[in-house]
Amino acid sequence: CGIVGYIGWRDAAPVIVEGLKNLEYRGYDSFGVATGTDSITVAKRKGRISEQAECVAGCSGTRGIGHTRWATHGLPDDINAHPHTDCTGQFAIVHNGIIENYAELRRELEGRGHRFSSQTDSEVIAHLIEESWQGDFSAAVRSILPQLEGSYAILALCAGSDEIIAARERSPLVIGLGDDEFFASSDATPIVSYTRDILILEDGDMAVIRRGSLEVENGGVATVRQTTYVDYDIEAARKGGFEHFMLKEIFEQPDVFQQSFRLANGHNSTSMLLRRARGISVIACGTSYNASLLFRYFAEKECGVPVRVDLASEYRYLSTPEDEVVIAVSQSGETADTLSALKKAKDSNCQTIAITNVQGSSITRIADHTIYTGAGPEMSVAATKSYIAQVAAFSGLLAGMSCSDTSSVECSVRQAIEESLLTDVSEAVSLCSKVSTLFYVGRGIFYPVALEGALKMKEISYIHAEGYAAGEIKHGPFALLSKETPAVAVCLPGDGYQSMLANLREMKARGTPLIGIGYGDDIDLKEVADVCIPVPKGDAYAQVAAVTVVMQRIAYYTALALGRDIDKPRNLAKSVTVE
Ligand code: G6P
Repeated sequence: CGIVGYIGWRDAAPVIVEGLKNLEYRGYDSFGVATGTDSITVAKRKGRISEQAECVAGCSGTRGIGHTRWATHGLPDDINAHPHTDCTGQFAIVHNGIIENYAELRRELEGRGHRFSSQTDSEVIAHLIEESWQGDFSAAVRSILPQLEGSYAILALCAGSDEIIAARERSPLVIGLGDDEFFASSDATPIVSYTRDILILEDGDMAVIRRGSLEVENGGVATVRQTTYVDYDIEAARKGGFEHFMLKEIFEQPDVFQQSFRLANGHNSTSMLLRRARGISVIACGTSYNASLLFRYFAEKECGVPVRVDLASEYRYLSTPEDEVVIAVSQSGETADTLSALKKAKDSNCQTIAITNVQGSSITRIADHTIYTGAGPEMSVAATKSYIAQVAAFSGLLAGMSCSDTSSVECSVRQAIEESLLTDVSEAVSLCSKVSTLFYVGRGIFYPVALEGALKMKEISYIHAEGYAAGEIKHGPFALLSKETPAVAVCLPGDGYQSMLANLREMKARGTPLIGIGYGDDIDLKEVADVCIPVPKGDAYAQVAAVTVVMQRIAYYTALALGRDIDKPRNLAKSVTVE
């Protein structure tokens, strides 16, 4: 979810609406705004703010809060949309995170006569504030925070009290400092067009934001937080003539690879740390996890270093050897599972490195070292350029670890991506868009690439797509194979090439239509595959980049053919800030 607050001299609702549009990548099931000083007006609705912003027309005043939701507790409907109010309507809150003990709190509140309107965990916050109110708004909020278990970024309003109270625990919250005005938000994106001076709240902080004054406290003790100047490329957050952000971001990849590779390659101290490490673990979710799996193959191949890769959400159930170097990879730097896993690694005395795309994100404040991927803002929910940037960062680090010459990597990858942006994928798209299940298969370095290809396809086309290590497909999935289940197969000369061809023949014998991605002059592949998509010849990184781009484009054009909402696929969020 994303939250925005404003207090100052502007009309608050338009500022909040624009801000929420910028935060829709965090969720877009429903939205709402609350404004007013003497009394509070709430407007909220199921759906996306970008499509029905007019519904907040009745919200006036120069102070307000707003929310765009990714449902956790309760259906995405008008009632469960935030802001939530107490029984009297005096208090309104927006909340990002999960109140884990909400059921217990709700039972107690109901026992004392409170009537709830929604099924959300968040509504308890408004009722608790109502109950604690003795004429002093900040005192009321301060007194209820210790009762909340879980994670939260909260903004709260009280009728008759001209301030916004903000509180943070394990969910990001920043405050923008303008001229006689303040902005509060889940991240800096909605704020940067007004001010670049941002104050980042820490866990346990509560801020009282009034016209012309800002006070921050932690555990009831006044505290000072440094202001950070945020560098943000506003142009990069616009579509620039492309039909979708995703396509624009796919086309940015030649530059992104180069940029990210150089940034990571310059991190000599981090490469040194990895070279001397007793063990290396990587933790991540989603696309970042797929990039991490690729690192494992390259690290073992190029540097002979074993690497453990874990899903961040599973890391807590596994042992963490002390003295390891743990790399946490997160485009947004805000994924709750990754942050929790990283904290666990720190608690076990591991040295920690963050690889992230977002300056000042939460992950950077936990890790001992940070490598920025420098891909620029990624607006499409499906990650493309940020994945290539992570692959580039890993290859830059590995080049640093092995002290190898890097000039050829940059050049060959750029060329491979540029060529793959123009390859004809139409036959593959017409095959994919007619089915309901797809397999993606590869061996070695192309196994994680197949996982990522399948993830892209399911995210944006809603076609069930499963990435598999080609050798494993005979251990179960064979039962599913038919002419209705095409497979996208990576078959490039190198490790496992002959085995891959054998696997494809086995699949073909079971009727599976094959989309082979390989070299254009590979007659063996042409013989077995129904559709061949050529990729340029090059080194392993160039091959990975080329196949990735081809798969991204197959997913994009399939989703386009099916009329999907490509940049904002249903039920997903770009940044998942709850565990
Ligand atoms: C969400 C996004 C994915 C992303 C994952 C991890 O699920 O929809 O695209 O890969 O989170 O995000 P992170 O920001 O940690 O890389």
